[in-house]
Amino acid sequence: MSFGAPHRHYRLTDSTNTRARELAEAGAPHGTIATAEEQTEGRGRQGRTWTAPPGKALLYSAILRPLDQRHLLPLSVPLAVCATAERLRAGIECEVKWPNDVWLEGRKLAGVLIEAKPQDDWAVIGVGLNLAIEPHEFPPELRHPATSLGAGISIEAARRELDAQLDRWVTEDPARILAEFRVRDTLRGREVAWDGGSGVADGVDDGGSLVVVTLDGDRVVLGAGEVNLTRA
Ligand code: BTN
Repeated sequence: MSFGAPHRHYRLTDSTNTRARELAEAGAPHGTIATAEEQTEGRGRQGRTWTAPPGKALLYSAILRPLDQRHLLPLSVPLAVCATAERLRAGIECEVKWPNDVWLEGRKLAGVLIEAKPQDDWAVIGVGLNLAIEPHEFPPELRHPATSLGAGISIEAARRELDAQLDRWVTEDPARILAEFRVRDTLRGREVAWDGGSGVADGVDDGGSLVVVTLDGDRVVLGAGEVNLTRA
């Protein structure tokens, strides 16, 4: 496993995930990455858009092939992003917010959009990591408060570190991935709500689904989608 080569960099593109998907469809090998200084149609989860001022965030998409359930990608990728952030800025501790956001000090630092095509045995791992975005530069309509890693960190250094951390975390033993996710899980023990219910988050099961205990004591397993903290 080695992420980072070949590397296509775009000064301006619609979405690095779209570029990487095209490369994957054309047969690009495992580890190929697409990065951009600026995206015009950056995509987030649940059909949302993702925006960042030019040159102030790492906008990164990598091709993974072949697919293997043991990769536990929705968990291993945010762990790689946490490790990247902590290597770039000493002294911080990142958390993961299920399914795959990365938070720092109660604010969203990075988002992950994984798009898989199982029939062709590949996935694109998209990461947007805020590096030097000022508070006033975040769109006011954001669902969560957002933050940046801090000025002075180069996009190139962030890119190289993320390549290395993906190499490590995507191939990590599933038990180790689950253990690390559970340590960093910001939702555990907190009240959450989703389309159709609410309860207290009780961590992830061995498949990476979120377990929630409702007020009636029922255990609900959420495999995909969104949950929101009901209290800050
Ligand atoms: C989310 O939190 O909703 C996921 C955001 C993922 C954004 C990144 S930026 C690089 C890559 N290209 C995209 O269009 N999206 C991902």
